[in-house]
Formats: sequence, structure tokens, C-alpha cells
Amino acid sequence: MTSIVRNQWYVAAYGREVGRELFSRTICGESILFWRTEAGEVTAMSDRCVHRRFPLSQEPSHLVGDTVVCGYHGFTYGADGGCVAVPGQTRVPRTARLKSYPVVEQDSFVWVFIGDAEKAEGAAIPRAPWLAQEGWTTVSGMEPLAARASLLVDNLMDLSHETYLHGGYIGTPEVANTPITTEVDDAAGVVYVSRHMADAECPPFYAKSTGITGRITRWQDIEFTPPCLYKLHSRIAPVGVLPNDDGTDPDAFHVEVVYAITPETESTTHDFWAVARDFALDDEGVSDFLRESNRTVVLQDVVALDVLEKVLTGEPDGYQELSINIDTGGLAARRIIARLAAEGAGEQAPATPPARTPAAATR
Ligand code: FES
Ligand SMILES: [Fe+2]
Repeated sequence: MTSIVRNQWYVAAYGREVGRELFSRTICGESILFWRTEAGEVTAMSDRCVHRRFPLSQEPSHLVGDTVVCGYHGFTYGADGGCVAVPGQTRVPRTARLKSYPVVEQDSFVWVFIGDAEKAEGAAIPRAPWLAQEGWTTVSGMEPLAARASLLVDNLMDLSHETYLHGGYIGTPEVANTPITTEVDDAAGVVYVSRHMADAECPPFYAKSTGITGRITRWQDIEFTPPCLYKLHSRIAPVGVLPNDDGTDPDAFHVEVVYAITPETESTTHDFWAVARDFALDDEGVSDFLRESNRTVVLQDVVALDVLEKVLTGEPDGYQELSINIDTGGLAARRIIARLAAEGAGEQAPATPPARTPAAATR
């Protein structure tokens, strides 16, 4: 059975990756060709020519204006995927059409809808506004993961692993030692996990970027909208400094850590990561440091999850896991993903418990 959830929007690329060069990426097992029209619109269509399946991203395939010409025998397609010319005859077969995908450019990402295109309309795309917003500076990247997407979901939903896997970067003893609160909004399909540390060591990731020298109040508020968009609202302030009653928070540093978890295949994943900050906006040194540090942290996860994927592939079916309190958020995410998968496959969705509203205190 497939583990990939269909009828969902997924991040396929950063907008900066798609231009007037033919660009291909496999999303949820489908090879998709991306390019920008002369007017600057991103298009997404199958990367397989309908004639003999030559990849349209492969040279000498190329763009001519707003058409793409197959590099094998010259079938030519418009921006909607429809074939407009074939060699040796004037009649273009009616069925000569590439599958085209609904695509939306938003918050620096290119989102693509995987599933029945008619269902794209009503499906909301979750937001990460800081990634392309005045008052924030963002560094970002993408690392290929040779592991199934669910392993990255587990990883991100339980940040206690920071203490062990990312010690010396973002992990300190308090992360693993501080209990979490978990809230699930079933109606909206969002999982919230919060860990508020009142008096914690400041890890190098934040000490060097903010300039704080002493201990900190550190809040981690996760907001995950399965299957793809994960946000970690991170608040760092000198110990004891809290937001004002009116919600303003001028003496804290805010970092929005965003991941897009996009299956490439059943067992490989595109691990998009971005770090947006509301301080030192023009400081290139801080940008370089955060880019390098976060990439290092992501690669520490990649190494661990690649190993785990290999191990799990070799395990007999029905292997046992043992879950504890720290896994509450990850288990909630698994339940929502299972429900979405059933809905996407057109099956009866399993019964879900009544929706609960997340407590304001956790946000
Ligand atoms: S394979 Fe593309 S034109 Fe023949
Ligand atoms: Fe990690």
C-alpha cells in the first residue's frame, strides 16, 4: 500500500529554482517538468513526452517562447501541456497532451497539487509568510533524504532529539528535560506541540546569531499541517523576559524554522528547510552562520534517518516500537496523515475524535 498522501498540495521547489531553463523534479513518484513562461508564470507538466516518453527536461529538449520542444523527435507543447505541433504531419492527435498540474507560487515556494486536479481548488495551501515578508530575513535550502517522509515527520515532531543528535548546535539538556504539551485541531488538520523552557542554556545557534551571552527563556511552538508544511515558532529572550500583555514582544528574538516535507518516492524525500529571523536583518555574517549551522543540523538528521530507513527496510513486517510522552505530537501527526491518506485514496476515513481547539497558551 502506498504511504504517499494524494489530493494534497506539496512544495516542489523554491521559486528561485524555476526560470527559463527546463527544470525537473520527482514529486510523489511523478516526474514533473517546471518552467516559467515569458510572462513569469510557473508551469508544471509531466516530464515525459507522450510520443516515446523522452524526458522533456533532457537536452536537447528546449524552450521556444512559451512552448517546449521535445529533444527526440520534436513534439511541441504549450504552457498548458497541450501538444501544438508534431513532425511530418499537420494533424495533431487529440490525445497528445501532457498531464498538467495545478501550481501556485506562494511564500517563496512553488506548490504543486498531486492527485485529481479538480480537487485542488478547495484545498487550502498552508502559509509561511515570513519567508517572503518585509521585516524578516530568510536563509534556506533543500537536502535530499534517502528515507521515507514519515521518518522526517517523526523527527521534526519530537525535538527532544536535539539534545542528543544536535548537541553543540541547537541542543542543550533542557530540551530533552522539559515536558511538552500537545494539542490537535482535527477539523483544521493541525498538530501543535509546545515546549517552553523558562531558564535554559543558550545553544551556539542562538548565542552567535542573537548575541545573547547568558541563559535564556526559550520557547519552541510547533505547528504542523500534514502532510507537508511544518513550522517551528522559536522565541529566544534573556531569562525572565516575557511578551507584554498586549502581545508585543520587543525584547525577544523570533525565528521561524520552516520545513516542507515532500515525498520524492515511497522511500526518499525532499527535505526543504528555511530559517527566517526578525533581527540582524542586514547582517550577512548572521545569515551565513545560520545557513551553515542549519544545514549542518539538517544533515545530522539526514545521516540518522538514512540509516533508519535502511534498518527499517530490513525489519520483519509488524516490528514493534515503544512510544512515550515525547511522541505524542508525532503520533497525532501519524493519525492525521493516515486519515488524509484514506481520504486521498477515496476510502472511508477512519472515525476521528471530536475536534479540540488548541489552547491559546500553547501558541
Ligand atoms: S519522444 Fe518526444 S518527440 Fe518522440
Ligand atoms: Fe533534528
